Amino acid sequence: MKATVLAHPNIALVKYWGKRDDALILPHQSSLSLTLSPLSVTTTVEFGVPTDAVELNGHVAKGSERERVLRLLESVRAQAGDKSLGPAKVVSRGDFPMAAGLASSAAGFAALAVAGRAAAGLPRDTKAESILARLGSGSACRSVQGGFCEWQRGERPDGDDSFAVQRFDAAHWPELRMVVAILDRGEKDVKSRDGMRQAVETSPYYAAWVKDAEAEVPRAREHIARRDLQALGELCERNAWRMHSTSLAAEPPLCYLNAATVGLIHQLREHRKKGVPVWFTLDAGPNPVLLTDAANEVAAEALARACGALDVIRCVPGGDATLKTEHLF
Ligand code: DP6
Repeated sequence: MKATVLAHPNIALVKYWGKRDDALILPHQSSLSLTLSPLSVTTTVEFGVPTDAVELNGHVAKGSERERVLRLLESVRAQAGDKSLGPAKVVSRGDFPMAAGLASSAAGFAALAVAGRAAAGLPRDTKAESILARLGSGSACRSVQGGFCEWQRGERPDGDDSFAVQRFDAAHWPELRMVVAILDRGEKDVKSRDGMRQAVETSPYYAAWVKDAEAEVPRAREHIARRDLQALGELCERNAWRMHSTSLAAEPPLCYLNAATVGLIHQLREHRKKGVPVWFTLDAGPNPVLLTDAANEVAAEALARACGALDVIRCVPGGDATLKTEHLF
């Protein structure tokens, strides 16, 4: 009745940006991401306690945060076909800055989905876990497995074909590096969930975004298969710019970049001219993630710091969400 899981966050190389179904979290387009180690979230779930209790990073979760967790566990009960599992206690702890533009919710909901099923006595099943994680947060479906995962948009209205599959494991490209540049530690003004809805509803470029992103996924897959850093880096930047352009064209406009973000992007280009292989991607926040290789990660970190990074986190391809024997309570 109790299980603990450690999961890593992921960074989208081809982004998910917009839902066709808000309740089931079904995307308009497919996306592709890389799991990031050593960053992680650990979550313990126990069923059969006196009352529901949710603690996230040392505070009692309230409102929509608590609701999202409890709703996911309701789906676990449905999958287990056992309403008698009783109330649940959840304790979750991440080892990286929340709301820093890194999708901490992705690792959190992936860990919750895998731990929830295990605590309910269900066997490991990456498809079922990915679908469950998706119900918490879309990008979470890509953190159930490690390496490079592709979230296939699916066609079915019930979402049963909308989950992530691993294309390559972490060992496929061990020298790949992602360097997270924390330029701003503040909470973002518009959360991804609201920003993408605004883009879907008001951006005249939205349909073009969907068509383009869907076509980029197989190309990204090919570049990863060949471990072609330049081709993947160029694709990543292009996809990030297109997601942000779609959002800038929304009403009201959504601008996630700040002055330091733009400064770093310009410097990146100068570095490339000097032969340093480094590209960026950017989620719905001001903190870019730099894509490079092991031989150039020190140069990428130095570049981020010279451009005002308050903190830099160097990441390598991460592994699957895994069950742990030590619980958080
Ligand atoms: C820009 O998965 O956080 O990071 O499904 O509403 O919870 P919800 O959104 P979320 O959005 C992630 C958006 C992104 C791109 C990506 O990770 O693919």
